[in-house]
Amino acid sequence: MPMRRRADPVRHPVFARCYDKLSRGAERQGAGDHRREALAGLSGRVVEVGAGNGLNFAYYPPEVTEVVAVEPEAHLRGIAERAATSANVAVRVVDGTAERLPLDSAAFDAGVASLVLCSVADQRQALGELSRVLRPGGQLRFYEHVRSADPRQARMQRAADLVWPRLAGGCHTSHDTVAAIRAAGFWIEAVRVFRFPDTKVFIPASPHAIGRAIKPG
Ligand SMILES: C[S@@+](CC[C@H](N)C(=O)[O-])C[C@H]1O[C@@H](n2cnc3c(N)ncnc32)[C@H](O)[C@@H]1O
Repeated sequence: MPMRRRADPVRHPVFARCYDKLSRGAERQGAGDHRREALAGLSGRVVEVGAGNGLNFAYYPPEVTEVVAVEPEAHLRGIAERAATSANVAVRVVDGTAERLPLDSAAFDAGVASLVLCSVADQRQALGELSRVLRPGGQLRFYEHVRSADPRQARMQRAADLVWPRLAGGCHTSHDTVAAIRAAGFWIEAVRVFRFPDTKVFIPASPHAIGRAIKPG
């Protein structure tokens, strides 16, 4: 499959429509609790990359003064804009990619990456941008599906990635995202790894991680 170049626009109209429906179902099956866990305790100015249809907005604590939600896909951005109007905190939705954030450096107390680092065209560049816009000591909260620690399952994920990205808006199941966050210079303060959904038959996108990483001060 040809790699998407960093500057290419993100266009996944079919996936975007499916994701809006599927993600609302997942919300009731536990994803809502995961989002709450990932965002608990945040305060100040927050940048969320690849905000999708804005499902995180409902879970930001009142101590958050502003969320700048960056979303490149037009259909999902439209839904996020509507979700922003009923959020409990101030949310501004903007167009842009994680690899090139249209935002000032060191301007945010926290960054949020939720089910997005699997889909970006360049994970290293996206994490570099997140680091750039965070103030020293700022934190990155992540809720991502990740590479399995089990080598046999990780092989299955690599095989799945031959077709998965075509069906799921560019999402890859085999990325070692926690290692990539560390490699980008963040200090992993806390991480919880689990399977969701926790089915008997292994689903390549089921290993998840929720965590907190700090940009060194
Ligand atoms: C699986 S959805 C997750 C949406 C949302 N973050 C959530 O937690 O439900 C992946 C999102 O990543 C976005 N995306 C894909 N490539 C991106 C990029 N290069 N930069 C930022 N967002 C991107 C998609 O448009 C989509 O909204």
